Amino acid sequence: MMTYSRSIPFALLALFGSSGLAQTVKGPEFNKPDGGPPASYFAAGSSIPVAALQSAAAKASTAVPDATYPINGDKGAKKVTIHSDWTKFSEGAAYVWVADMDVDCDGLDSNCKGNPDGQPQTNFGALAAYEVPFFVIPDRFGTKYAKELPGNNVGAVICDGKMFYGIYGDSDGDTPQVIGEASWLMARTCFPNDNLNGNSGHGNPDVTYILFTGDDAVLPKSALNKNYVTNFTTLRSMGDKLVTALAKNLKLSGGGDSGSSPSTTTTASGSGSTGSCEWEGHCEGASCKNGDQCSGQLVCKSGKCAPV
Ligand SMILES: *[C@@H]1O[C@H](CO)[C@@H](O)[C@H](O)[C@H]1NC(C)=O
Repeated sequence: MMTYSRSIPFALLALFGSSGLAQTVKGPEFNKPDGGPPASYFAAGSSIPVAALQSAAAKASTAVPDATYPINGDKGAKKVTIHSDWTKFSEGAAYVWVADMDVDCDGLDSNCKGNPDGQPQTNFGALAAYEVPFFVIPDRFGTKYAKELPGNNVGAVICDGKMFYGIYGDSDGDTPQVIGEASWLMARTCFPNDNLNGNSGHGNPDVTYILFTGDDAVLPKSALNKNYVTNFTTLRSMGDKLVTALAKNLKLSGGGDSGSSPSTTTTASGSGSTGSCEWEGHCEGASCKNGDQCSGQLVCKSGKCAPV
């Protein structure tokens, strides 16, 4: 296996190029508490200026009606506001807020650990919380702004310095309605060492949520069914495109890799200083902070993706 593991991916690459076949899935194969899709399937590209976006998000200040919610049901819980400063852009328009991250398992995996009150449905289907990186918004907000947020809108989450893409898959209708929840997969990928579950979330309100608005930001049916994300390449390329447009509107620059272009549709062989591989922009030589940001079996060595 050691001998062949490097040549096989390249042979496949030659056959399929960057068509994304490698990250097209059926879904059930990843519907396991500890066997969900790897972080690399929904991580932001290395050209995204994650830290700059996080700082910009912290400065957003414009509130729309019905935008403020507590982060949990406790008396005196911190309240968080969903900001609309970024909703007027023609491309990359988004709502943004900073909150904690509790674990939601509604849908197919509602019996997840620590989740006695799970519901079998999510707002737009019955998503599998072990397989789908989704996040949750308060129901009142989703209902009031349903025209901009038709459901399954792509969003980006910045947690612990990393950025992942997910979809707006569910809403919270508790009393009171709370903010700061994401699927089992998203929460445990954000904070892999904390054994998060339905009854144990990430309590610090230090997670940035960016939710893209409009029909163009909705993950299409070709990449998602009632239960599963079926094409992670679509999720990632939509996410990179929307976030890149947003960063441009905010005049942010300085992503992880000044050499790589944020383009999402190029050919397999069209790489410059960085090598080609199945996850474009994350190949040998691409900038990285950790191995999750490198394609396949590559690891992160001295800030660059490199062979083991
Ligand atoms: C998956 O998505 C990518 C990007 O949107 C697309 O190029 C590819 O054809 C899709 N794969 C399948 C099997 O639909």
